[in-house]
Amino acid sequence: MTHQRPLRALLLEGIHPGARDVLASEGIAVTLLDKSPPKADLPSMVSEYDILGIRSKTQVTAEVLDAAKNLLVVGAFCIGTNQINLVRANARGVPVFNAPLSNTRSVAELMIGEIIMLSRQLGDRSREVHLGQWNKRATGCREIRGKTLGIVGYGHIGSQVGVLAEAMGMRVVFYDVATKLPMGNNRPAASLDELLAESDFVTLHVPATAQTRHMMGGSEIAKMRRGSFLLNASRGDVVVIDQLASALSSGHLSGAAVDVYPEEPEANGAGFATDLQNLPNVILTPHIGGSTEEAQEAIGKEVATALAKFLTSGTTTSAVNFPRVEQPLLAGKHRILNVHKNVPGVLGDINRIVSDQKANILGQVLVTDPHIGYLIMDLEQDLSQEVCDQIAALPTSIRTRRLEER
Ligand code: NAI
Repeated sequence: MTHQRPLRALLLEGIHPGARDVLASEGIAVTLLDKSPPKADLPSMVSEYDILGIRSKTQVTAEVLDAAKNLLVVGAFCIGTNQINLVRANARGVPVFNAPLSNTRSVAELMIGEIIMLSRQLGDRSREVHLGQWNKRATGCREIRGKTLGIVGYGHIGSQVGVLAEAMGMRVVFYDVATKLPMGNNRPAASLDELLAESDFVTLHVPATAQTRHMMGGSEIAKMRRGSFLLNASRGDVVVIDQLASALSSGHLSGAAVDVYPEEPEANGAGFATDLQNLPNVILTPHIGGSTEEAQEAIGKEVATALAKFLTSGTTTSAVNFPRVEQPLLAGKHRILNVHKNVPGVLGDINRIVSDQKANILGQVLVTDPHIGYLIMDLEQDLSQEVCDQIAALPTSIRTRRLEER
């Protein structure tokens, strides 16, 4: 299906060119920029486009969304969507898509690397040799084979880590608030305490929620086995950093790998400080768990594909701020997509227009959230434009467009 005029996409912040290729293959004209424009220029710039693609730095404020009169959809080519005013986008009928899964494997691989690094004190040995010190030793350095890995949060990343760890010969136990199907021989723990008590390595893969904030504080760390290791590549607030630093200084823990911090700098450069610096066998990385070229390419394709599906069929199944629907296209028919205020009587008004026009509805799906309704309606071709125009003119309509078959 296609639109009446070619669509235009603005992709900012050096989004992977794979995204451009996906959109271009749908006949969309793509402008690809390395950076985000100055804040003040964004509203007027965006007003020219139907599709906006950003990463984490561009702030898509209410002002930007209000200025973007043609905007149909926003792609966040990253995981987080805090930089976008999702409520305003919803109210304006603009779905937002992100890429929650594309860097799962990258994070999982990093964790396996770090488990071995911690177990062999590789960070310290490497630093010593760089400084000209020869410190060949075996004491305290171990294989990971046969050791127990405890995974807290057995979602996309956690379960991947479990699969890879098992392939390395580790025993894997996990704790999750939801019931999860164990992969391979991974085993659920009855409680977090049970997991902490039996693990040689504990790795955290929970989301940032009120329940996970500070879930690894002093008392939880104290329940970990003496000489064990803690890894956190989830969110900075999940661990109480000064308590972790104390446990490392006292020798209760033999090491830690930390990728995320309660406060992280917005830009690269010097001056970052944390209580974890300069402690033995502590690997500190600058939130790079998901930062690989493969993940960037996968993010580009995942989000661009979601945008293209939305533009060509109205599919919103992976949108973060929108009622979700996927309805197969009917050959030879026209599709009307209507976003409206979620107030009583709208469907009646729309169906009256269809019936007055003597048009035949071949398929109709309505999904709602508390604020908006999203209707997909398939019609015979001859009357679809007239019906579309009349639906668009309803006072309850927020956004209406018609897709024609190519
Ligand atoms: P996911 O949503 O697939 O899995 C999270 C799991 O945690 C779910 O199974 C959920 O039931 C569980 N969970 C929630 N609250 C819990 C609690 N209180 N106790 C135990 N389990 C709990 O998420 P995914 O994709 O696996 O990501 C996990 C974390 O990794 C997120 O915080 C995400 O922000 C972070 N992340 C970090 C990256 C990095 O660069 N370091 C890159 C990608 C994700």
